[in-house]
Amino acid sequence: MAEERENGMRDAEWEASKVCVLGLGYVGLPTAAILAVSGFQVVGVDVRHDVVEAVNAGDVPIEEAGLKTVLQGAVASGNLRAQGGPEPADVFIIAVPTPIQQNRTADLASVRDAAKSIVPHVTKGNLVVLESTVPPGTTDGLLAGILSESGLQLGEELYVAHCPERVLPGRVLTELVQNDRVIGGINAESARRAAQLYRRIAEGEICPTTAVVAELAKLVENASRDVGIAFANEVARISRTCGADGREVIALANRHPRVEILDPGPGVGGHCLPVDPWFLVEAAPELSRLVCTAREINDSQPAWVAERTMAELDGIEQPKVSIWGVAYKGNVDDARQTPALRVLEELGARGAEVSAVDFHVKRFEYELADIEASVTGADCILLLAGHREFRFFEPGAIGERMRNRILFDTRSFLPRERWKDAGFRVVSL
Ligand SMILES: NC(=O)c1ccc[n+]([C@@H]2O[C@H](COP(=O)([O-])OP(=O)(O)OC[C@H]3O[C@@H](n4cnc5c(N)ncnc54)[C@H](O)[C@@H]3O)[C@@H](O)[C@H]2O)c1
Repeated sequence: MAEERENGMRDAEWEASKVCVLGLGYVGLPTAAILAVSGFQVVGVDVRHDVVEAVNAGDVPIEEAGLKTVLQGAVASGNLRAQGGPEPADVFIIAVPTPIQQNRTADLASVRDAAKSIVPHVTKGNLVVLESTVPPGTTDGLLAGILSESGLQLGEELYVAHCPERVLPGRVLTELVQNDRVIGGINAESARRAAQLYRRIAEGEICPTTAVVAELAKLVENASRDVGIAFANEVARISRTCGADGREVIALANRHPRVEILDPGPGVGGHCLPVDPWFLVEAAPELSRLVCTAREINDSQPAWVAERTMAELDGIEQPKVSIWGVAYKGNVDDARQTPALRVLEELGARGAEVSAVDFHVKRFEYELADIEASVTGADCILLLAGHREFRFFEPGAIGERMRNRILFDTRSFLPRERWKDAGFRVVSL
């Protein structure tokens, strides 16, 4: 009772009104904008000058449905401004990148830099929330270690929590609000205060726990999907060897009431699935054999797709392939860790001429072509990302420009019968 009263008093004392969000990318920018339109004073911080300028001008440097409107509202209201470094606030949210290094361990340099940059600004009663995906133990270890340099007593004077983000690109604004939130504190009071913050923007359930459970829960979610996709990819390969269509096999197996196999595809890309499972392997290498094997299967899928494409082109001299979609999935502009890059390079190494088309991606390692140039003289369309625009093309008109009419649709995205009727040999995984 006494403790409850004390906590109640602490709650009454603590009413966050100003939030500093570090990292204005796919996660941080929508979070900053939602907080601002929910009534918080928000200072967005990014080390990239162009990002800061764009945000202050109400421009969205990334493609995300509805974000521009919300951002412009937030900036116009005066509740959101961006700058190059942090300043005093009630809450600091860290949403900076956590990629993997060559040796498949987490690169936590940005988390370290962001944490160090806020140390001079934190004061008694502040809350620091790490939203970036990190290996287990990072919040209690690296982050708490840096924040203790402030001289404040962690968990008593400065509260620290890990609240992993689990939004799906393309649906970020909806999911930021509707998803359940896992809130892991370095102690119970830290979790309670973080829960109080997220309750003001989230409609989903708030699930308080410890920092390490929150870190693991996030990693396990993504590893689970990665393992599921690896299984689907393996089924596609086995089915192919047996002369069957893997997607048909999976569709029929899924008619079992307790079976839910995921979709096979050209490989796994993006910022999360190809990266996060390695953080589990890093934490317990001897115990994560399934996670590790799944990663290896999914990483080898682009080479398998390239090999299968070349098999379809057997006998054609100087084959030309038109790749449709280099984003890591449909209807997003994100080409980070995209399997398309590997497919493209593997095809080139096997002697094919390749040109790629994408209506969303603006930054890619190779020059992108327009659709006419890409399909003219091509022997095969290789669809890797299901962008909605591809469905609007008339198969007959496309076929007329091509040398041979082969469609390898790795996503089973295009209407198969229409393309067949236009004289295409349609191949799927
Ligand atoms: N993209 C997603 O859909 C998604 C989903 C869930 C979780 N996550 C995780 O969220 C974190 C952020 O991912 P993202 O996709 O938003 O990354 P991002 O690359 O889109 O954005 C990160 C931003 O942080 C900035 N930055 C780097 N160091 C900084 C520093 N010291 N101070 C201030 N800004 C700094 C970068 O310039 C960049 O603009 C990662 O850990 C990621 O794994 C991402």
